[in-house]
Amino acid sequence: MVGGEAVLRPKTATLTFVSGKAAKFDLLAAPMSHDRGEGWRQVRAAGPVLLSNGRYLLTRRDDVEWALRNPELFSSREAFAMMNSPLPLVPIAFDPPEHTRYRKILQPFFSPRALASLLPGLQSQIDETIDAIAKKSECEVMAELAVPYPSTVFLTLFGLPLEDRERLIVWKDAVIGLGNSSGTIENLDPAPAIELFGYLVDHIGRKRAEPADDVLSQVLTADDPLTDDEAIGLSFLFVLAGLDTVTSAIGFALNHLANHPDVRQRLIDDPKLVPSFVDEIIRLEPPAYMVPRVATEEVEVAGVRIPKGGEVVMLLAAANREETEENPNPDSLDIDLLRRHWGFGGGPHRCVGAHLARMELTLVVTAWHERITEYRTPPGFAATVDWPRPVFGLDELPLLLGPG
Ligand code: HEM
Repeated sequence: MVGGEAVLRPKTATLTFVSGKAAKFDLLAAPMSHDRGEGWRQVRAAGPVLLSNGRYLLTRRDDVEWALRNPELFSSREAFAMMNSPLPLVPIAFDPPEHTRYRKILQPFFSPRALASLLPGLQSQIDETIDAIAKKSECEVMAELAVPYPSTVFLTLFGLPLEDRERLIVWKDAVIGLGNSSGTIENLDPAPAIELFGYLVDHIGRKRAEPADDVLSQVLTADDPLTDDEAIGLSFLFVLAGLDTVTSAIGFALNHLANHPDVRQRLIDDPKLVPSFVDEIIRLEPPAYMVPRVATEEVEVAGVRIPKGGEVVMLLAAANREETEENPNPDSLDIDLLRRHWGFGGGPHRCVGAHLARMELTLVVTAWHERITEYRTPPGFAATVDWPRPVFGLDELPLLLGPG
């Protein structure tokens, strides 16, 4: 801050709200379980900057985008420092320039070209899973497909034994579930996290001794290699960031298709449309609907002063559903429009795994339709998300398979 002035958000889009105060709003009470369209409408209608349980929520896409792109004013490091993680959660718990170094190390492994080498393996894994489902007349999508598949992908990517999948799922649930219970790491039952830690230490030791061509071996032996602590922190973050997000997106995708036979038929007839569908699902139902930061200086957004040290949350889902000239019907899914969205974040922390996530989801939807073209949710079933929780997702998605 210079001369006592707050840093001003330039070209504030929402001047009508210049009051100096954020409207109070209880995000946790918003009706998100059944109808996120209504939920995010209420959030946006309450104002551009809301104060909810002590945190400043940014609800407008221009403000969200601006904050995402200004890590020197909105620090991810400070937001994660509040979690007191004993491990360096590489790269999310860092700001540039340290963050830039980590992204340089990681980026080469997550480009579409680098990921192409994984494709045949991931394809045969998904084919096998859906072959088994296709033999039945009903299935539970979350348990049989959406939960196990991203874990298989993570183990493949990191060169870890596929038979460890069930253990990984148990560790992941315990670490995430306990993390959500209080928001701090001190109150966790440390046992599952310690087991996962021991597992990673063991495998990192093996990969240092005998590196292979997986991502974990390569970040340990790159020109600018990660230390053991950094590699463990990175692996923890991948478990936290790359599993439940994809699980949720698979659930939302198949639920939408089960209830919209018109969209389903277009994807069956023309599988080249699947990637557009995948992006539309992530725009409408972003599993990571918000990202946390801390203001490093007093800053004014849409006329509201956020104090230095204030906790700021960018509501990606609200930004994705903002009505604009080029996006007049933000609550409807349209596979013919290429709409911008922030479901993978933006700025320097934009999701490292975005291409991988898109690839996983495209494989799932395509392989599903190659085997199962008729499916629907059981009569009376309405998919709900358990709210509030930090990652949106369905707990269950039963489907009836075959002609109705
Ligand atoms: C549909 C699936 C996914 C969604 C919706 C999603 C969403 C996001 C979002 C919104 C961020 C930005 C966080 C922030 O700015 O604070 C992010 C970051 C990240 N994601 Fe994803 N993600 C997905 C899948 C994945 C996968 C599959 C991986 C790993 C294989 C992954 C790894 C990461 C990592 C490491 C970061 C931190 C990047 C950084 O700090 O530079 N994500 N993700």
